[in-house]
Amino acid sequence: MVDDLRGVIHQAPLFSPETPYGKAMSVRMTSTGNCGWFSDRSGYRYVDTHPNGAAWPDIPASVLAIWHRLASNERDPDCCLINYYGEGARMGLHQDKDEADFDWPVVSISLGDDALFRAGNTARGGKTESLWLRSGDVMVMGGAARLTYHGVDRTRFKSSALLPKGGRINLTLRVVT
Ligand code: SIN
Ligand code: MN
Repeated sequence: MVDDLRGVIHQAPLFSPETPYGKAMSVRMTSTGNCGWFSDRSGYRYVDTHPNGAAWPDIPASVLAIWHRLASNERDPDCCLINYYGEGARMGLHQDKDEADFDWPVVSISLGDDALFRAGNTARGGKTESLWLRSGDVMVMGGAARLTYHGVDRTRFKSSALLPKGGRINLTLRVVT
């Protein structure tokens, strides 16, 4: 899968999106599929092309196989967002709610360094729970958990030898339309 993702990132390089508040995200990202997740001062949204103007590469078959096993054989995801966490990268608590139909789960695949994942509630605030996601872990955010707040507090840089330069890749598969 990492080899497949290398090919994807060669075609659609990682970039650091700007939040709507004008701050660069510490996570670098790119996408595959019919559309890709994007953010800038105009807000969070899905767009048809990479910032370089090219269409997003196809979702690799190795990644789709996990969706078919855990989510659905009826419909493929529109987007696989690829997040890369280098040293010190993190992701604040948020909901995945830029999609049209929350009946479809989000499937998350973790590769490389360990990450301290935090999950909260469907409204902001309240008690949260943390767990370490390790390389090869797959998580389905579906049903009542589809709209829980979640984020990554930190990673243990170079805790995994999967990626020669260290870091963590997280893939999230999403039905968007
Ligand atoms: C995300 O919420 O997009 C990423 C979650 C993760 O990196 O585990
Ligand atoms: Mn998310």
